[in-house]
Amino acid sequence: MLEQERNVGTQEEFAAHIRNGLCQGFGKKWINPKFFYDRTGSCLFDQICLQPEYYPTRIEIEILKRYSKDIISNLKCTSASMIEFGSGSSLKTGIILEQFFSQGIRVMYFPIDISNAALVSSVRRLSSEFKNLDIMGVSSEYLKGIRKICSFIDASSRTPKKKVMIFLGSSIGNFEPDKTRMFLKSIEQYMQTDTDDNLFISFDLEKDSHILELAYNDRAGITSKFNLNLLNRINNDLGGTFNVSNFTHYARYNKTNRRIEMFIVSRYDQKIHIRDLGQTISLKKNERIHTENSYKYSRQEINHLAKDSGLVVAKEYLDAKGWFDLVSLSKR
Ligand code: AVI
Repeated sequence: MLEQERNVGTQEEFAAHIRNGLCQGFGKKWINPKFFYDRTGSCLFDQICLQPEYYPTRIEIEILKRYSKDIISNLKCTSASMIEFGSGSSLKTGIILEQFFSQGIRVMYFPIDISNAALVSSVRRLSSEFKNLDIMGVSSEYLKGIRKICSFIDASSRTPKKKVMIFLGSSIGNFEPDKTRMFLKSIEQYMQTDTDDNLFISFDLEKDSHILELAYNDRAGITSKFNLNLLNRINNDLGGTFNVSNFTHYARYNKTNRRIEMFIVSRYDQKIHIRDLGQTISLKKNERIHTENSYKYSRQEINHLAKDSGLVVAKEYLDAKGWFDLVSLSKR
């Protein structure tokens, strides 16, 4: 079953965002990172996850393989609805689902993703991998998706009431701090104490800036392609005239704001016409278009964040180096 609604991938929203983001003055141009994930962008992101420098995926898989048995047995339930935010290709989800099955827990899986293409392929793959798995994919933004899913769970007598929500891949790091708080507070409202609902979120932890910068500047140049693909998307979807080779990828760690910042940099003074917007954008040599922030957290910050959102850190699952933290949160 696949639920689809008009989502953030629509042409209209992309056009409106590009009109606003690229028509700003020098140093203020930006593109929201949610637009990375068209079909090509989603494939490139999957490739980023395989790069040796991009440690988060590798380490998170390590943590899941090591602890998922413990995580699932600690749920202490016989059935559950597992809701995943930003499921992407759901590769890691398989590790968790396998534990539900081997521990004899009935599970209904609700992946939410803005990329319909990624959702369709992951629903297909998981349905063939787990023969008796009930799946309802929702192609939407997270908060709209969770609202829809919770109404469905409430209304359906056959759907497990206990909710296990997961947000993997340290994707929460791509939210600005105020959005992170707002997101957690909103999710908390959908958690119930009588069913002892759980929320698992992975956070990339602060570490040596050299390691961080390597992760966003892989030698094979995949992150660069991923970043510059935004320009291809503007060309393809909105009739832009970007010559991608006239731009470079730039990613560095901002120690003050504790985030990786990613930019597309113009190599020359140039003008770009975007047909569907009826607009021409001027870029100066070395002018940057800000495309992503990826926040890195401390364990103390995570605790504060949880507390501020009416949640409590019940347990943390870390790798041996302390680079990555899968946090189990409960309602206070
Ligand atoms: C999806 N997200 C957690 C990735 C990150 O690390 O911030 C996106 C990414 N951007 C460049 N590389 C990976």
